[in-house]
Amino acid sequence: MGLLGCGTVGGGVLHLLRANAAYLEARVGAPFEVVRVLVRDPEKERVKELERSRLTTNPDDVLGDPSIDVIVEVMGGVDPARDYLGRAIASGKQIVTANKMLLALHGAELLDRARSRGVDVAFEGAVGGGIPVIRVLRDALAGDTIASLSGIINGTSNYILTRMQSDGLSFEDALKEAQQKGFAEADPTLDVDGGDAAHKLVVLSMLAFGARLDGVSVLTEGIRGVEPVDHAFAERFGFVVKQLAIAKERGDELELRVHPALVAKDAPLANISGVLNAISVEGRALGPCLLSGRGAGDLPTAVSVVADLVDVAIAKKGGTAGQSTRAIRLAERKLSPTA
Ligand code: NAP
Ligand code: HSE
Repeated sequence: MGLLGCGTVGGGVLHLLRANAAYLEARVGAPFEVVRVLVRDPEKERVKELERSRLTTNPDDVLGDPSIDVIVEVMGGVDPARDYLGRAIASGKQIVTANKMLLALHGAELLDRARSRGVDVAFEGAVGGGIPVIRVLRDALAGDTIASLSGIINGTSNYILTRMQSDGLSFEDALKEAQQKGFAEADPTLDVDGGDAAHKLVVLSMLAFGARLDGVSVLTEGIRGVEPVDHAFAERFGFVVKQLAIAKERGDELELRVHPALVAKDAPLANISGVLNAISVEGRALGPCLLSGRGAGDLPTAVSVVADLVDVAIAKKGGTAGQSTRAIRLAERKLSPTA
């Protein structure tokens, strides 16, 4: 495999591949070999599991290496990640990515390209850190239709709100902690202004509603305006302040929004604290189903990325590469966002 990026998530992936090597080899039937690792700065200190001779700053060393059959993209952003994944797909390499921004803006396009080449695009790590919500929407709930989704899907903003509300920290200090713990995006304005949650909501909605949503707008309000006095008032009246992401199908319209909200203290989402995320899926036949767990950070996210690697490796061995991509059915539905 080739790794594009070796920061928080890439480091977690290398750690997990090494720590669980024997178990993974037994499961897949062959060891995972990390052939090349693309970064910007080859001098930077990295996880001890990285063999420094594998590092490169030249994308061609990864994308043009015929011995690499799977690309793990954990560099983030749209450019140049979109171009690199396009090149990887064109040469028949399977894809694992945790890049929700790229998927929200170009996911349907990427899946179309991959499907036409029989390539897998697996992205469990893109939403909810270690929570297996992509598999639930793609596979487990394939027999149902989804009426709505709602939840807490940005670990950094939930961490900040929790630290402000429960421990009286300032916004700035709480954000600094979230960054030190590896929860925040390289550009943390994406977390605190709601953009990251909006990207994830689009990715979840693409799967839940089977709709092509590349680049749709989401009504988005971040948590910068939430002040200590808001937490105090919420507390007095039996609420907590949470950043919610909500998607609801209303006839031919899809309501997509991300904003701070008052949540009653006895509601399940009120107890989702710190870096935890929770996603409630309302299936028309199933009813409500709540998934929760650690929504950001190196190891929880690496659990999802490595699970995708295992799936892709097993599918490839069985001669069915492209199976996760084929399982995602995007209808040409006219679901117009209401935002
Ligand atoms: P990060 O710590 O900033 O790491 C990014 C890595 O990509 C770095 O190694 C960086 O190289 C490399 N990189 C970035 N742009 C590059 C370029 N143009 N050319 C070559 N290398 C480049 O980010 P992260 O937190 O691991 O996140 C990676 C991806 O996973 C993002 O899409 C993010 O949204 C997603 N994600 C993150 C988390 C999380 O909890 N952090 C959870 C789920 C998903 P240098 O090290 O040399 O700078
Ligand atoms: N920055 C993101 C968050 C990482 O805080 O939720 C996980 O996707």
